[in-house]
Amino acid sequence: MNILIMGMGYVGVTTALLLTELGWNVTGLDPNESRIRMLSQGVLPFYEPGLDDALRKHLASGGITFTSEVDMAVCDNEVIFLCVGTPSGSDGSADLRFIKEAAESIGKNMPGYRLVVIKSTVPVGTNEQVVQWITQAQLTAISFDVISNPEFLREGSALRDALEPDRIIIGSENDQATERLRSLYEKLSCPVVVTKPKTAELIKYAANAFLATKISYINELARLCTKLGVNIADVAVGIGMDHRIGAHFLRAGIGYGGSCFPKDIHALLFTAQEHDLSLTILEKVVQVNQSQAVYYLDIWEQLLGSFNGKTIAVLGISFKPDTDDIREAPAIGIIAKLLKSSAVIRVHDPVAKLPGSMYSEQLQQFDSLEETIQDCDAVILCSEWKPYITADWGQLKSLLKQPFLLDGRNMLDGAQLTSQGYHYSGIGMNWTQMHK
Ligand code: UDX
Repeated sequence: MNILIMGMGYVGVTTALLLTELGWNVTGLDPNESRIRMLSQGVLPFYEPGLDDALRKHLASGGITFTSEVDMAVCDNEVIFLCVGTPSGSDGSADLRFIKEAAESIGKNMPGYRLVVIKSTVPVGTNEQVVQWITQAQLTAISFDVISNPEFLREGSALRDALEPDRIIIGSENDQATERLRSLYEKLSCPVVVTKPKTAELIKYAANAFLATKISYINELARLCTKLGVNIADVAVGIGMDHRIGAHFLRAGIGYGGSCFPKDIHALLFTAQEHDLSLTILEKVVQVNQSQAVYYLDIWEQLLGSFNGKTIAVLGISFKPDTDDIREAPAIGIIAKLLKSSAVIRVHDPVAKLPGSMYSEQLQQFDSLEETIQDCDAVILCSEWKPYITADWGQLKSLLKQPFLLDGRNMLDGAQLTSQGYHYSGIGMNWTQMHK
């Protein structure tokens, strides 16, 4: 079976490589020609561990090819995955412009039956809309099916998540189409849930919103722990062992970021609003997340006296480790607040880069950790990259003007650092109080 993947972003490239890995002939399509050239040469347009090796392996074996020519691609492939972007509109709704364009080009160019699979995260009801858009674009009536098959990939572990999913969700109205899609995933050993398209669409949003809720819950509890002198990590271990709660997504920190949680929750809130409904818990989840970094920055500012005129190192600007994605990264909000407080900021990240427009005399990025923290009054750790966890902080201390380590992800050993003479402060713990 020949498969076309429309949209060579993060989800598209990973899905394309997953299906190639499963033995299918795959074509990746994107209107951006320079992106297609890069991919054809074995270069990923973003950072993702393991994905570049898979790309080069499958290019060499001929299992995957890339193109910008939509007409031919739709003609040559019977199964078409929609992996185009669904950015946030200004009102928080999901902007379906690219989905519409893709559906119309399928309708215009399909010479015979096509199975269209929606992978992109789309609001409930989009499946029905895609059916309409394809039908309206057709010159003559040709049959097709549209299945909703959301992905649950995490940046940083996308290929592993794709190869070892917890479940596959198939939202379909047609049994034959369902079996066809099921056969594509035959080699994956995980439960397959077959349901209605609308249910499949909602499952994706509901899963992301629930995970974000767990994080905001533990983050808000962390604020209480800071006041009480209780360690939130111990609380998380204690509650996470109850299998009804589960141990994952209970790491307190300066808040969740990335391209999915913030965007998807806003889209879900928007859908609820369209139906005259307020999802009050989710509204609070967003509020807690938006105020979490600021809450701890205020505490840290008090520790330092003031940020005004201080030199602060900000480490880890991506929204989490193992990605170069800085969309909605808490570090970016922290930098903005420090700039307002007239601090001088020195930034480091193993992979992610500050946008050129952000550079100024007050804000610069450095290549080495040592150079970044040189003569700083404090270090703020924003994402838990391995090089920061394994760094020899005992040695690095001599480079700092003042040994303040402000750990936004609770990634370092506070007890050890305190014994080495650091003023250490994390999230959901009051180190000084706890160790009096
Ligand atoms: C998420 C979902 O996990 C994935 O299933 C979906 O397909 C896309 O959205 P991703 O955004 O790549 O994936 O990252 P994830 O690992 O889920 O982390 C999201 C954010 O939550 C990060 O900023 C991370 O630092 C934060 N986080 C995660 C916490 O603050 N605490 C935790 O315990 C877990």
